[in-house]
Amino acid sequence: MRRDVRILLLGEAQVGKTSLILSLVGEEFPEEVPARAEEITIPADVTPEKVPTHIVDYSETEQTEEELQDEIHRADVVCVVYDVSEETTIEKIRTKWIPLVNGRTERGSRLPIILVGNKSDLRLGSALEAVLPIMSQFPEIETCVECSAKQLRNISELFYYAQKAVLHPTAPLYDPEAKQLRPACIQALTRIFRLSDQDLDHTLSDEELSAFQALEDVKRVVCKNVEGGVRDNGLTLEGFLFLNTLFIQRGRHETTWTILRRFGYSDALELTADYLFPPLHVPPGCSTELSHRGYQFVQRVFEKHDRDRDGALSLVELQSLYSVFPVAPWVPELPRTVRTEAGQLPLHGYLCQWTLVTYLDVRSCLAHLGYLGYPTLCEQDSQAQAITVTRRKRLDQEKGQTQRSVLMCKVLGARGVGKSAFLRAFLGHHLGEAQELPADSPVHVIDTVQVNGQEKYLILCEMSADSLLAASPDTTCDVACLMFDGSDPRSFAHCISVYKRHYMDGQTPCLFVSSKADLPEGVPPAGLSPAEFCRRHRLPPPTPFSCVGPAQPHTDVFARLATMATFPHLVHTELHPTPVWLKGVLVAVGAAMAAVLSVSLYRVLVKSR
Ligand code: GTP
Ligand code: MG
Repeated sequence: MRRDVRILLLGEAQVGKTSLILSLVGEEFPEEVPARAEEITIPADVTPEKVPTHIVDYSETEQTEEELQDEIHRADVVCVVYDVSEETTIEKIRTKWIPLVNGRTERGSRLPIILVGNKSDLRLGSALEAVLPIMSQFPEIETCVECSAKQLRNISELFYYAQKAVLHPTAPLYDPEAKQLRPACIQALTRIFRLSDQDLDHTLSDEELSAFQALEDVKRVVCKNVEGGVRDNGLTLEGFLFLNTLFIQRGRHETTWTILRRFGYSDALELTADYLFPPLHVPPGCSTELSHRGYQFVQRVFEKHDRDRDGALSLVELQSLYSVFPVAPWVPELPRTVRTEAGQLPLHGYLCQWTLVTYLDVRSCLAHLGYLGYPTLCEQDSQAQAITVTRRKRLDQEKGQTQRSVLMCKVLGARGVGKSAFLRAFLGHHLGEAQELPADSPVHVIDTVQVNGQEKYLILCEMSADSLLAASPDTTCDVACLMFDGSDPRSFAHCISVYKRHYMDGQTPCLFVSSKADLPEGVPPAGLSPAEFCRRHRLPPPTPFSCVGPAQPHTDVFARLATMATFPHLVHTELHPTPVWLKGVLVAVGAAMAAVLSVSLYRVLVKSR
């Protein structure tokens, strides 16, 4: 919303501009008036729209042409005042004042104008007949008011209309010449209709309509005027658009503006940056996850668009979900990043994708939630409430455990050792299932794994050998997976150098994975064997891995990585096979976490009541 409104009064000499202003301020008709009233500012709390409003007078005798142009330039709205008892002052609206105000401006950026017929006490009937042709000639004229400074008639109304013309402008919404909504307005209202149509039956039920505080008898009026405006007792999109046209034609565009603004639209009918990107502070070392509320919301969206209730979104269903976005996100990369089933996106993969975006690019996540109408539909201040910012990693390390439910694993290793195959295996794909992957960019995949009976999201991020050559590659993660080719032990040297350079002195748990375990083991060159190296550095022994075979690739290694990421302090002690005493510890820690979880869940429940 705007911060203030500047109203300028223009018109022929002696029509009563100064008197109108002084009548408004003094609440009585001033018998004697100066040529020009001082600029006055009405404080926000006494104006109907709660916006500070400046009222500026003009006097031909006191001001130069230049000063006049300057005032026009500064004004948000102009009231052209005429004398209802003086025909010549009406004629001058067309010949002088409107050309002066808008003569040189583009169509779209013309100042709104209010016509003000003063001295209505001097005339029996109204002078509207003379004014109507002018109104239809100039679309920037918002309205016309007849008033009397002397009888204090319609004075506050005129300033209210002026204020409204600025705060709830007609121009972006409605084309008065064509007498219909403008395309951008139809687009915005269509998006709002889709978001509000919770059950996707293409009509708004009474319950869905109540979000707009729709007026009583709305449906009856729509029914009478638009064929197909009401169906099965619900309002259709045509009906909804008609209703808004009606609001505007009846001078009630603030109703349409209220709807648009609640869904984040600016005066230019674009979603504002304030709406799409609400402030969210993520200190270094913290990560971002969807909160319980966030997951609930995105799941509701999923269920709304899963029309055939088969638990997965087809391409068509996804397109319907994306119809409220300016451009569809995600589609091409989905099969590469999450589990899909026969070209469909199941709920599990969908939630994984949201989790990934929230973790990697929280700004996009906020925007996406904004497109889906999260703040309005969930009655929250902003999408920030759908996000949990985790505590600092350092604190996790000090405490020896993490509350994070999304864990990041970087997969590193020499060229050709099988990193990409490892990532694909995580999504259940075998070697040989052809998939096109971009050459360089770090690739992410995400799925859930069980850690002590708790579900965790694990992200695998492939870092190519080349990417490690960058000046300062980002190798931070919750667990590092250092991969070498078991059939070619020379590739182990690369792992050693990565380990020494990036992880040896840090606290990140590391797991060496020996890939291609289906091939015969290579003969290690002279020096330390991988097993020996790991033992000396108090690392868990290398884990063999293969993604060849008739069965699903072994998934133990992924659960293992997630467990190491969750309990980093337990790694340096032997994790595999888990000794009995350690199992006890793990169960105890798991139970403690469950307790913490249920306490916080309780708090959420109490708060949301
Ligand atoms: P300039 O400053 O010369 O441009 O004139 P103005 O438009 O400011 O007009 P102003 O307020 O000075 O009023 C001009 C004359 O009209 C004064 O004598 C006012 O008393 C009178 N007048 C203003 N409003 C009304 C009204 O509503 N009814 C009647 N009967 N007289 C009015
Ligand atoms: Mg004056």
